[in-house]
Amino acid sequence: MHIKNLHSALGAEVTVIDLAKPLSQADADDIEAAWRERLVVVFHGQTLSDPQLIAFSRNFGELDPPGPNPYGEPFNKEHPELNVISNVKENGKPIGNLGDGEAVWHADMTYVDVPPKAALLHALEVPPPEAGGNTYFANMFAAYEALPPELKTAAEGKTAVHDASRNSAGMLRKGYSEVTDVRQTVGAHHPLVRTDAKTGHRALFLGRRPNAYVLGLTVAESDALLDALWEHATQPRFAMCHEWRIGDLLMWNNLSVLHRRDPFDAKTRRVMHRSQIRGNERIA
Ligand code: SIN
Repeated sequence: MHIKNLHSALGAEVTVIDLAKPLSQADADDIEAAWRERLVVVFHGQTLSDPQLIAFSRNFGELDPPGPNPYGEPFNKEHPELNVISNVKENGKPIGNLGDGEAVWHADMTYVDVPPKAALLHALEVPPPEAGGNTYFANMFAAYEALPPELKTAAEGKTAVHDASRNSAGMLRKGYSEVTDVRQTVGAHHPLVRTDAKTGHRALFLGRRPNAYVLGLTVAESDALLDALWEHATQPRFAMCHEWRIGDLLMWNNLSVLHRRDPFDAKTRRVMHRSQIRGNERIA
């Protein structure tokens, strides 16, 4: 197995490994170390059945099932612990989540008290490169480090609510109603700045912008602070772009990166299977 860094801000590529086979403890430890330090780990050319994706994921902890989707039932009936991300419809019914539109910058499931610590996304079908659908990741340790002092001070000690009602494609999840006043947003409360339990390093923890609200501020103050933090955190200097190929598997550090996806040509097919690893503790 070889590991090399990708972008200056984050990302590592792991080659010469077949993830369909059981992993040695040494390889699992090296992959986990790359995930911890480089935040996004990229594998190419992996042919994995759902049970193999589950077995590989379990090297890094217990699986966390997907959150509620707009349709109210798991996409992967045989393996409900996996999610399906797809624009494909069969008999008029979506086989997966998020459609073909943009998925805005977000971290996964931060609307729960203990969000998943890792997500793994395996590409089974992808549009041709010119059709769109690239995914971007931004390093929230680097973004925190580079905050202008006045924004660092403004974020310090503040807590925000992370909206549970809509997914990153803007679709309302089943069972939720429209947020009309962000002070009423339903979702977990987390600090704007978290401290990594293992390393003590600090990172911005923003979750998702729509319907977010910083507790204790007026709506105008909250919007101004959040807009400034989001504009800072999503600059290209903190980010990498992934152009998908069939067989790619990406594993990201969900508490330490934001990610977003470009829209893509609705006439093309994009099918990905996804697992996530349960978090260990509340965000602090
Ligand atoms: C996601 O936001 O988890 C999906 C990203 C993608 O479709 O590339």
